[in-house]
Amino acid sequence: MEHEFVMLKPDAVQRGLIGQLITRLERTGLKIVAMKFLKVSQDQAEKHYEVHKERPFYSGLVKYITSSPTVALVIEGENAVALTRKIVGATNPLDASPGTIRGDFGIQIGRNLIHASDSVENALAELKIYFDESELVNWKPVTNNWVYE
Ligand code: RTP
Ligand code: MG
Repeated sequence: MEHEFVMLKPDAVQRGLIGQLITRLERTGLKIVAMKFLKVSQDQAEKHYEVHKERPFYSGLVKYITSSPTVALVIEGENAVALTRKIVGATNPLDASPGTIRGDFGIQIGRNLIHASDSVENALAELKIYFDESELVNWKPVTNNWVYE
């Protein structure tokens, strides 16, 4: 089964949206296998956003993600990456459809509430910045046979 790495960014935590945002992911049937409340360190932020190092928004992005606590999650399920990215919506809330997290809760690209890795490979690399692989819990929800045929 695929793993997806998700982070509820500082604005989501400050605005008291943790529960509502996790509910949107959970209610699909996707399964949480790891979760932690943490303040991202400078070192973690630089690793996480390495690909954007040359972008003009990079320093603002690192400052934003390290500014206040976040919630990091690992989610497991069939097509977890694509499904999660669909629920999250387009990067800029202005382009994100209603019904998506960014479309429903955001206004600006620089305060877009949530991160979700864009591929299976990047999810694995990013989850390793925040979790030890031993922290991923292997469990079977009792609802599994009603989520998967
Ligand atoms: P994410 O990585 O956070 O899930 O978002 P994404 O794939 O939709 O977007 P990505 O291109 O990876 O950008 C990472 C984050 O950088 C910030 N950003 N700001 N000011 C800007 O033009 C700009 N562009 C990107 C956003 O916080 C975006 O989520
Ligand atoms: Mg991205």
